[in-house]
Formats: sequence, C-alpha cells, structure tokens
Amino acid sequence: MEKKWWHEAVGYEIYCKSFCDSNGDGIGDLQGVKSKLGVLRDLGVNCIWFAPIYKSPQVDNGYDVSDYMEIDPAYGTLKDFKEVLDTAHSMGIRVIMDQVLNHSSDQHFWFRESRKSKDNPYRNYYIWQPPREDGSEPTNWGNYFHEGNGSAWTFDETTGEYYFHQYSAKMPDLNWEYEPLRQEIYKMLHFWLDLGVDGFRLDVFTRFKKMPGFPMSTKTPDPKLDRKGYVVDYTMCTHVPGIHEILKDINKNVFSQRECMTMGEGAGVTCELAPDYILPERGEIDSLYHFELSSRRRSEITPELFRTVQKKWAGVMEQGGWNIQYLSNHDSQRQVTCYGDEAYRVESAKLLATLTHTSPGIPFIYQGEEIGMVNVRFDSIEDYNCCYTLGAYQSMMENGYTVEEAMDFCSTQSRDNARTPYQWDDSENAGFTTGKPWLKVNPRYTEINLKKDLASPDSIFRHYRALADLRKEHPAVIRGNLTFYLEDDEDVIVYTRACKEETLLIIANKSSKQRAISLPESLLQGGEVLLSNLKKENSLAKEMKLDPWEAIIFRL
Ligand code: NOJ
Ligand code: CA
Repeated sequence: MEKKWWHEAVGYEIYCKSFCDSNGDGIGDLQGVKSKLGVLRDLGVNCIWFAPIYKSPQVDNGYDVSDYMEIDPAYGTLKDFKEVLDTAHSMGIRVIMDQVLNHSSDQHFWFRESRKSKDNPYRNYYIWQPPREDGSEPTNWGNYFHEGNGSAWTFDETTGEYYFHQYSAKMPDLNWEYEPLRQEIYKMLHFWLDLGVDGFRLDVFTRFKKMPGFPMSTKTPDPKLDRKGYVVDYTMCTHVPGIHEILKDINKNVFSQRECMTMGEGAGVTCELAPDYILPERGEIDSLYHFELSSRRRSEITPELFRTVQKKWAGVMEQGGWNIQYLSNHDSQRQVTCYGDEAYRVESAKLLATLTHTSPGIPFIYQGEEIGMVNVRFDSIEDYNCCYTLGAYQSMMENGYTVEEAMDFCSTQSRDNARTPYQWDDSENAGFTTGKPWLKVNPRYTEINLKKDLASPDSIFRHYRALADLRKEHPAVIRGNLTFYLEDDEDVIVYTRACKEETLLIIANKSSKQRAISLPESLLQGGEVLLSNLKKENSLAKEMKLDPWEAIIFRL
C-alpha cells in the first residue's frame, strides 16, 4: 500500500465558533485559533479539520454556506485564514476544510438567482418540482431537522414550485445532476487547494444523489419526531444508485489531480458499503467515519459492541480502506458523559482516548475531549441553539410529550452539548471570551478547564499527548493486525495489535467496577508497560486485578 501522511495522523476537529474569541464579540474566530495552535502542537496533533468557516447566515452554524470562497466575517478574513494555515504548516500541522456540497444556504447567490424564474440560468442548480394535483408537496419526505411543517419541500410563491431540502428550508439541496453546478464546485475545490489546504472533510457525501422520480415513502412515521404526514426516510437520498458516479466525477476532476486527503462523513455507511467508497482502486474518497459506535442516539458502547464494530471495520482496512476513529464531534454528546462515567471523569476520558488511539484507523479528537469536557444541561429551551434540538423539541410538543420529557430529550441528545465554548481556564466565561458567549459556557468550567488539567499530575491532555507519541514510535498502532481476547467479558476489552516488528496488548476495564481477569498464556510474554491511565503499578500477569476504568498498553 502506498504510504500517505494521513495514515499516521492524529486529527483534531476545531469548531471555530466555540474555540477561542480574540476580539470579545462572543464568537470564536481565526485569530483565536491562531493564538492556540501551539496548544494543539503540544497535544501532538498534526492535522486539523475545520468545521465550516465560510460565509454563512449561521442557520446551522456554517453548514449553510452563502459563499464557498469567503470566510465568514465573524471568523475573520481570507488573510486571517492564510495566517492560520501558514502557522499551522510551520508547526507541521496539516489543515483540512469541511466541504458542504449537498446543500448551500438559501442566501447563496446561486439560490437567490435560482428562485427568480423558471428560466433563470441558475434554476437547475437546485431541485425544483411542481406541486401535486392537490397543491401539496411533491413527496411525503420529511426534513432531518423536523423543521417547519416537517416537509423536505418548501413552496416558493414566485415560480409556484417547491424546492427540495433534506435539512432546513434555509439549506436547499444542490442539484448534482446538473453539469454547470458540478463545474462551479470543482473550481471552488481547486481554489482551496491552490490556497494550500491539505484536504477536505465531505459533509453528508452519501446524500448527493436523490431517488429518481421522487417516489412517495412508505416508511412508518416516528411517533416522537415525525410531523403529521411527513416521514424522515433516509433511503430516499442516502446511497442511492448513481452516488458513486458523482464521487468518481469529483475525484477525476479534483482529488486525483491534486495532493489532498479526503474524509467523508459516512451517514448510513456500513462496513459492507464502505469499500466501494474508500478503496483506493475505486477512485472516490480516501477515508470515512461511520456512526456505528458514536451517534447522537446511542448512549452505550458495550465491550461486545466495541469488539463487533472494530472487527468489521478492521476488515475494511485489511482490504485497503481507511477508517476514522472517534467517539464524539460537533454533532454528538460529550464522550465522557455518554460512554464514560462522570464519577470517574478523568479515568474514563483517558480510557476512551486509549481505545480510539489504538484501534485501527486515524484518530480524530473533538475539541474539549482532551480535557474531559462533559455534557451541559440548560434549564430553558431558549438557551439551546442547535436547529435539530429546536425542531425535535417542537415535534415532541406537537406529538403530546410533556415539557419535562422534551427537555430531557434535549439535554441528552442536543448537539449543543458538544458546542459550548472551550474551557481554557477558570476565569469568567472560561477564558473563551471577554464578551458574552454566543452559547452559554458549561457551568462546570471552574472545575474542568485546560489550565487546571495541565496543573494536575493526572492530566488528560498529557495522556492524549502520550498516545500521539505512541503512534509515532510504534508501527503496530498504525499497521498492526487486530485480535480480541476474553470475548465474552462484559466489562473488559482486551486486544492486540501485531505487526512484524512488535505486538502491543491493550487491556481496558470499561466499567465502574473492580474486575479480575484471567489472561491466556499466549499473551504472557514480555509485558513492558508503555502507557497506563492510573498511577497504580500493574504488571502483566495471568491473573490481573483491574480498577474501574483502568486502561493499560503493554508491549509483548
Ligand atoms: C452533518 C454536519 O456534521 C451537521 O452539523 C450538519 O447539520 C449536517 N451535516 C447538515 O450539513
Ligand atoms: Ca470573535
């Protein structure tokens, strides 16, 4: 397999809006990012993924782009971006830009033109359909944000037709069937590569192709979230035949011509579907992240699930594809709250990091994870910002749920859990801003912040750094085969990563209980401790006692 820089990368997602505010307007910005790049270098990160920082009305915090070739003024200018890029490069950090190619903002010039008349040159940049005979929407498809009346179609008076939007009505879907649209997108991707970026994260790349003929969905509505008459039916736009033709076309016109890494947001991608997207000989994209371990709705990763999923995806990697390892991002809950235990916050944060950094694939850290940031619980729906949360709340109100039930749902499922400002120190607003933050700071910031973490002998940040160093020093972490042991254990995860140079053994007690385990003889060779997450001494032995959330990496 041809060696690429990103095979050995440690990635970090920056959600700029919540990272660091340099000018006191309450919104994180590029100069803020620039001032903190040294922190990321010290963390051992060598690749940044920027969630969208393009010009945007911020309906979905930047996933509604109104100009793909401009930086949003709240974040700075192209000059600021270039400074960040050059500084990152000087530190050996590559930069990957989020590309939102499924939809744009309704404020994009293309859409403002498109809606003007049926013969406008930009009409076909978007998806327009006439009403059904009774005047209703072309299909019963619902939008993912449960917004408005719930439909994925919005009527536009000017031309008397509906336009299609899988997400918000303010985020119309682009029409990939139309060649001039494709050419504009390709030009724009080259623009960013010319500027020096190292690759792209592709937002919902499995959804560019829509079901031809727009059939009605026969799916049963979700009694909690679907609005009357409209159903959210992923099959109408996800992995629709023809999607590979689109990706191959992008690859041919852009990715294959340039030095660039691509990682796709694999909505609905299973390990059976993945190879067709990511095997190098397919000529589509380089890597993807799936949702089989981390998703907004899942609240538990059992050792059994972990083993099953990792084995399946290791199989994809054996065929030559690359997988992203992560447990949280800007769309999820905080991983310590969701998959760890806040009562063992530090220990479980480190254990989860140990798992993601030693499983096959490229680890991607989400900002704040490296200091063990936790979920937030806002008292009022007014404090929430995420449009998915607001739509879900509204649907629950209409579907007969109580305010308490809806608020419970929001506090666990809201993407705002991941989006509260970064907690740098214990000063007002966690050192994120001198102004009023755009989203409330998590009230636990005086206890959980970077400054405090670094001052502690139990620093989570330093554990992440040690894991990053391990990737550099131990080829088995990158290329080693994966084998699980004690496969019936309900608490403890045991696996090896073995390549011709070495074998590493990872033992992780993913529970809040003390556990005794008995290892097979075959693992009892050598046993140098490379890294562990507790201060206690523990050596490799047939019978081992593990403390809650204890995780150890041995070299056999
Ligand atoms: C996936 C992004 O990660 C999410 O934040 C966004 O709302 C949707 N795609 C729509 O762009
Ligand atoms: Ca700012």
